Amino acid sequence: MKILAIETSCDETAAAVIEGAEKDLKVELLSNIISSSIKLHAKTGGIIPEKAAREQVKYIIPVIKKALSRAKTKLSDIDSLAVTVGPGLIGSLLVGVETAKTLAYVLNKPIVSVNHLIGHIYANFITTNEQRLTTNKKLGVSSQKLVVEFPAIALIVSGGHTDLVLMKKHGDLKWLGGTRDDAAGEAFDKIGRLLGLPYPGGPAIEKAAKNGNSKRFLFPRPMIDSDDFDFSFSGLKTAVMRQVTGSFPRNRRGQDDIADLSASVQQSIIDVLIKKTLKAAQKYNVKSILLGGGVSANQKLREDLKSLILNHKSSIKFFAPAKNFCTDNAAMIGAAAFFNYKPVLWKKVTTNPDLYFD
Ligand code: KG4
Ligand code: ZN
Repeated sequence: MKILAIETSCDETAAAVIEGAEKDLKVELLSNIISSSIKLHAKTGGIIPEKAAREQVKYIIPVIKKALSRAKTKLSDIDSLAVTVGPGLIGSLLVGVETAKTLAYVLNKPIVSVNHLIGHIYANFITTNEQRLTTNKKLGVSSQKLVVEFPAIALIVSGGHTDLVLMKKHGDLKWLGGTRDDAAGEAFDKIGRLLGLPYPGGPAIEKAAKNGNSKRFLFPRPMIDSDDFDFSFSGLKTAVMRQVTGSFPRNRRGQDDIADLSASVQQSIIDVLIKKTLKAAQKYNVKSILLGGGVSANQKLREDLKSLILNHKSSIKFFAPAKNFCTDNAAMIGAAAFFNYKPVLWKKVTTNPDLYFD
């Protein structure tokens, strides 16, 4: 079965063609095209929704055309469309949804509506076997057990969301907790701006942190021991602001200070994310832990979580998407659609910017 997937929830215009084989439930990626307007938003230090939506309009058709030609697939060979219906920015989402509906109407094909957050989880199901092998080798896990085993805990960490989800099987998800204020990616972005780093703050802080001492500043680990699976990152931003304005005004801030501040704040976010994820994994006795979302591209987060699982001599399998599948893409939307295949007529598809977990 071939699916043309479309993702336009924020500042990426993305289309992918995936082929799913029913018998072994494997998703093969035939093409994956992404056009990002991130450089435009870097100029303003954040996303202006109206500008993001206009960029979506500009790129949606060329991106879909390129995805089809790269996959050597004609529109008539597609069995179904898949599209992100939410959550996200309304103007951006509408571009993808209305394009998918129009194609479905003209081609007389069904559509699968996909929740963007569930899409981030499914980025783990498009990794090729080869990638899984290397990931698991590093973990010392036998190559026979390469697939995700349920139950699993998924940590979704993106610019807009921080959620812990229990996945009992495909289509059976239970939301355990999430952020009460800023998302992890949002914290990285806002703190990056405080430190004078370029947008987006996540990759910029990770880069600056490479030469930094993460023990120089003891920033808070908000809610790390709370008796739930919720998060809060806005206090951390305030703590960094106090430190920066108090001791390191712009004219007294050296590269070393930026590196140490970056490493310290990065570690604080990572410590909280990992502690809560492992707590959930233990409580629900899971067999796999899955990362997803833009922040899961963070190498330190991936490595710290991996080594903690190993140190505990746990048999839990750890999965993190290939880095190009961490940030927004349509391949993950295609994978989510394939594993949760509920096609409907184009008329039944509606955009829902506030969509969450049921
Ligand atoms: O998933 P995504 O592409 O978009 C949303 O759905 O929000 O995530 C974007 C977020 C941004 O906040 C960005 O700063 C963060 O992911 N991010 C990172 C890294 N790469 C992207 N955060 C920390 N470390 C990274 N390497
Ligand atoms: Zn996303």
